[in-house]
Amino acid sequence: MEMPGLAAAVALALILIIVNLAGQCSGQLQFGFYNGKCRDGNGFQRNVEDIVKQKVKEKFSSDTTIVAALLRMQFHDCFVNGCDASILLDVPNGEKTAPPNLSVRGYEFIEDIKTEIENTCPGIVSCADIIVMATRDAVVESDIKKMGTGWYPVQTGRRDGRVSSAQNVNLPSPSIPVPQAIAAFSSKKLSTIDMVYLLGGGHSVGVAHCGLFENRLYDFKNTGNPDPAMNTTLLKTLRTLCPRNSGSPNSANLDQDPLKSSSVDKSFYEQIRLGNGILEVDQQLALDPNTRFPVARIAGSNDFSFQFGRAMIKLGAVDVKIGRDGEIRKKCAAVNSPSRSSGGKFFNLFG
Ligand code: HEM
Ligand SMILES: *[C@@H]1O[C@H](CO)[C@@H](O)[C@H](O)[C@H]1NC(C)=O
Ligand SMILES: *[C@@H]1O[C@H](CO)[C@@H](O)[C@H](O)[C@H]1NC(C)=O
Repeated sequence: MEMPGLAAAVALALILIIVNLAGQCSGQLQFGFYNGKCRDGNGFQRNVEDIVKQKVKEKFSSDTTIVAALLRMQFHDCFVNGCDASILLDVPNGEKTAPPNLSVRGYEFIEDIKTEIENTCPGIVSCADIIVMATRDAVVESDIKKMGTGWYPVQTGRRDGRVSSAQNVNLPSPSIPVPQAIAAFSSKKLSTIDMVYLLGGGHSVGVAHCGLFENRLYDFKNTGNPDPAMNTTLLKTLRTLCPRNSGSPNSANLDQDPLKSSSVDKSFYEQIRLGNGILEVDQQLALDPNTRFPVARIAGSNDFSFQFGRAMIKLGAVDVKIGRDGEIRKKCAAVNSPSRSSGGKFFNLFG
């Protein structure tokens, strides 16, 4: 009676091994995909994740807003056409040119990291992976206590897309009702809880411009009154910052805790529970029956960093390109020249 159980266990183990190996050939993301793959001109092994980390440390020391820039960039890249760096392409009518592009920044910084890596081991590391690695490192840097608790492992092995089109950009608007936001995330295989972590962690840094929340300040939904969900102290501040119909270019911190507005942490959840959400969707997250209990729980939790990291890993896996599907660009702003030499034939035969 013991043997069948043992045999079944061995079979299961074999199946798991085979599935895992198959995944490695046919293409799944992996933790540490670049381990041992980058050799510099002198034949020395170089750690790709260390190169990226060093670049982010240097950048952060002169510009702490790089954290917000990269978080927003990863969100926009992954939500439009999958995490394939299509957001970085400089092409006519590309994703960059679509209206929600406002304040997506950091393109040059990713290109700068790419150049350094290409000078070290050309043709190995995708731009899509650089976005994900650099975003993680920026989140770590933003921790005010410098305890490294924001660190999470990243999966790599993405390839870069060759297509970028403004028509594909279908990002949620700042006034999207929570149930519709849940549906938008769900269409990317992200759960309600994933969304609560990604939106709350993402919006725990950075800013929003007046034009994206002015509708809440004076005549909310044609009532002639402000959004009743907004804290009245905040309302006064924002009305001064964004005078009615002024087209003001000003912006407000998405996290209204002045001590924590540039670190990725759970303070956003505490703030929205006080009515201090800047965007309508941010405020509704604390009120909607689908999300108010998770929000309250996270505000009082002590594993935010771990859970946020877990959600970022899932965001980084949305519709990725692997294997022959995609390329390793030479420059992040441009697809490689279409004259594929040997790779081209392979592509035609099997693609
Ligand atoms: C329902 C989903 C979301 C909506 C509607 C939304 C909307 C917005 C809007 C309107 C802004 C202000 C842009 C501006 O004024 O220039 C913003 C900023 C930002 N968003 Fe989101 N967002 C969403 C989810 C996310 C997620 C999932 C992340 C990252 C994980 C993220 C990260 C950021 C960051 C970091 C900023 C500040 C950018 C900066 O300061 O440069 N957002 N978002
Ligand atoms: C962003 O979109 C606006 C249109 O809303 C466009 O005028 C602007 O050039 C775009 N920005 C970039 C970097 O392409
Ligand atoms: C409004 O925000 C302030 C802090 O910014 C807080 O002390 C106060 O309790 C909030 N009011 C409400 C009704 O939550």
